[in-house]
Amino acid sequence: MFSASPTPDVTPSESRRHYQDFRHLGLERVSPDQFQRFESFIYEHSGIRIDKKKVTLLTNRVRRRVKALGLSDFDAYYRFLTSPQGNSEIKGFLDAITTNETFFFRTPTQFEWFRNRWLAEVVADARRGKRETSLRIWSAGCASGAEPYSIAITLAENAYRLRGWNVEVIGTDISHQMLDEARKGVYPRRVMNAVTDPQRRRFFRATGDGDTWQVRESIRDAVTFEQHNLMRPMPGKEFDCIFIRNVMIYFDDRSKQTAVRHLIRALSPGGYLLVGPSEGIHDQLKSLRRVSTLIYQKLGSPFHDDEANREQA
Ligand SMILES: C[S@@+](CC[C@H](N)C(=O)[O-])C[C@H]1O[C@@H](n2cnc3c(N)ncnc32)[C@H](O)[C@@H]1O
Repeated sequence: MFSASPTPDVTPSESRRHYQDFRHLGLERVSPDQFQRFESFIYEHSGIRIDKKKVTLLTNRVRRRVKALGLSDFDAYYRFLTSPQGNSEIKGFLDAITTNETFFFRTPTQFEWFRNRWLAEVVADARRGKRETSLRIWSAGCASGAEPYSIAITLAENAYRLRGWNVEVIGTDISHQMLDEARKGVYPRRVMNAVTDPQRRRFFRATGDGDTWQVRESIRDAVTFEQHNLMRPMPGKEFDCIFIRNVMIYFDDRSKQTAVRHLIRALSPGGYLLVGPSEGIHDQLKSLRRVSTLIYQKLGSPFHDDEANREQA
């Protein structure tokens, strides 16, 4: 998504310099028509609606792709992007457009709930025979992976409660570049402020340069990464818990409705949806039970047998 804060590459003096550097190449600034075309393309492919005020930002990011491909100008790039040959460029373009800030244990209250309340609840339910001993957790819009790895670390710390359980953690993002980063699992210190020293020692190893840390293999192996666009339904089995945080800020209402519909459908009965503080989807979650401002539950039994029960009744 586009960053909410002013981007570092659009200070007035830099903007002037860019203008002068690129004027002779016809790359100084996308025209209103070009903005409109790129904006529609991005919306169609990601659900992200770009504000007209972001013209400089859009220009900078499109220009990066024009230069990377050695093309002459914005129109040539657009023609390529929308041609059959340019199909593979769509991912490069969306990678350049999305903003992927993330960090470990973001919004700590949700992780506290996940560890202290939710895990206790599922373990107790399984003991009473009210649910199966399996869990599927989805980090939707996971960027470079700090969120699904935070989930996997929490689960590893609670492994003694989940002995014999079948646990799956899936991280998805629209951006292939982010997923490549996520699979590597290497992070700078600033992304790890909320990682405690014992967690760092146990779940990370220092890389050669000393300034970055890699998530250990046992945790990397615990997470599966897949490319997925939230504008499409999520294939596969339902999830017991879905994290959807800091992803939809730049979606318009229609995109939010589409994504929320797919998320709720992907949630198992009794499953929980954890939303980011600025997702702006609270009005669309009315069919769910509100546990707190950022936590919602889909009604029904985790045994997935509600319909069967209703039919028998
Ligand atoms: C700011 S990051 C949030 C990462 C993590 N959820 C967190 O809260 O730290 C937002 C991510 O959403 C992804 N994204 C944006 N639009 C998407 C879409 N339509 N489908 C899937 N992912 C999308 C972006 O590529 C980006 O990596």
